[in-house]
Amino acid sequence: MLNLGILISGRGSNMESILKSIKKKKIPINPAIVISNKPNAGGLKIAKKLGIHIEVIESKGFKGSRWQYDKKVIAVLTKHGVTPRNGLVCLAGFMRIINPEFVKKYKNRIINIHPALLPAFPGLDSQKQAIEYGTKYSGCTVHFVDTKMDLGPIIIQAVVKVKENDTADSLSKRILKEEHRIYPEAVNLFARKKIRISGRRAIIS
Ligand code: GAR
Repeated sequence: MLNLGILISGRGSNMESILKSIKKKKIPINPAIVISNKPNAGGLKIAKKLGIHIEVIESKGFKGSRWQYDKKVIAVLTKHGVTPRNGLVCLAGFMRIINPEFVKKYKNRIINIHPALLPAFPGLDSQKQAIEYGTKYSGCTVHFVDTKMDLGPIIIQAVVKVKENDTADSLSKRILKEEHRIYPEAVNLFARKKIRISGRRAIIS
């Protein structure tokens, strides 16, 4: 079976929704490992409670290059069967840029969730960016990871209306609800081989 590795940095609510959906919806993928770059990430406790292997590869104070760090991540993924042939890597609030070598090695096997309708508002604080720009709608995007940030083929998007009195916080909460719905859905599509990539487009069958 396909093996899943999830990379987190924080509270891990998207990770939790993926792990719970795998069980509930019988998604044909084995949740093999959760890796955090921060030892105090809240998501680690949740993963442990759900019986998933966890590993911390601390990035703070890491002496080597970005690629050397990523090679450590790849080694842990490989140890748990999350390989370029038989794996899927989900970035779930993993606040690090992945080295292009990592992306090439796992070509079209790394996916990410972003709290905006890409290509609008890439990078950090996307919900705040949407409020400050004054858009009437924002949302979230699950996409394949490309060698450029927040740019790979889009798998699913969900639209969220921005209310007149929204703050970055209130908008984030409503977007997060949609994130928890579409990320597991994207994992399900991938696991069932329903996604075909053609140029920039991810075509769902
Ligand atoms: C989520 O809102 C996710 O979309 C965002 O970080 C949050 C992580 O929450 N990711 C990015 O901004 C990536 N550019 P979680 O740890 O509860 O899943």
